[in-house]
Amino acid sequence: MKPVKLAPSILSCDFSRLGEEIRAAEAGGADWIHVDVMDGHFVPNITIGPVITEGARRVTGLPLDVHLMIEAPERYLEAFAKAGADSLTVHQETCPDLAATLAQIRSLGVRAGVAVNPDTPVESIRAVAADLDLLVIMSVQPGFGGQKYIDGSTDKIRRARALLDEVGGRAELEVDGGVDASNAAAVAAAGATVLVAGSAVYAHPEGAAEGVRAIRKALQA
Ligand code: DX5
Ligand code: ZN
Repeated sequence: MKPVKLAPSILSCDFSRLGEEIRAAEAGGADWIHVDVMDGHFVPNITIGPVITEGARRVTGLPLDVHLMIEAPERYLEAFAKAGADSLTVHQETCPDLAATLAQIRSLGVRAGVAVNPDTPVESIRAVAADLDLLVIMSVQPGFGGQKYIDGSTDKIRRARALLDEVGGRAELEVDGGVDASNAAAVAAAGATVLVAGSAVYAHPEGAAEGVRAIRKALQA
């Protein structure tokens, strides 16, 4: 069993010190950096785009796991690939032709992911599941960091794991939202291979490095 990867979300970091905050997560043992992109249309919040992604690219060699919570993401795939994204995750809810959008991501030489919101059945992505590099289960309603993990998500993670195994998919199974040291082990036990954590890392009283270490310790307990 591969060790579970930790992907701190910079949404919850102090953006006046973005470089330091990314380096701190890396020092704490982060595997990926999760970049939450929001357009104020698909979700009510507006956050960051290709320019900040490019800034993150300049300060870390860790894979940039870019999460596109935006309408019509196909318009921006190239810009994020050029900015240095290693994976681009689009939402099932924003892609009328999901297979085509995922193929477009792959044609840019970037790993292709799809995210499903809490109310979207994981079955909805069965047709593309075998070819995914990343399947993201949203365990909060997208839009903001610091929300509470939705309890029903753990069963959904198990269903997603079963679906990926059934279709022989190789995708990483990422869980995104409300993950912290108190639920990380249960989320991993349900089949997650990548845990996103924003506020649990960046609101940690001893800083982001300790925040990452605390989740890692909880996984090893
Ligand atoms: C929510 C984002 C999540 C969020 C995670 O829309 O997709 O990545 O930033 O933050 P926490 O871990 O604080 O829920
Ligand atoms: Zn996210």
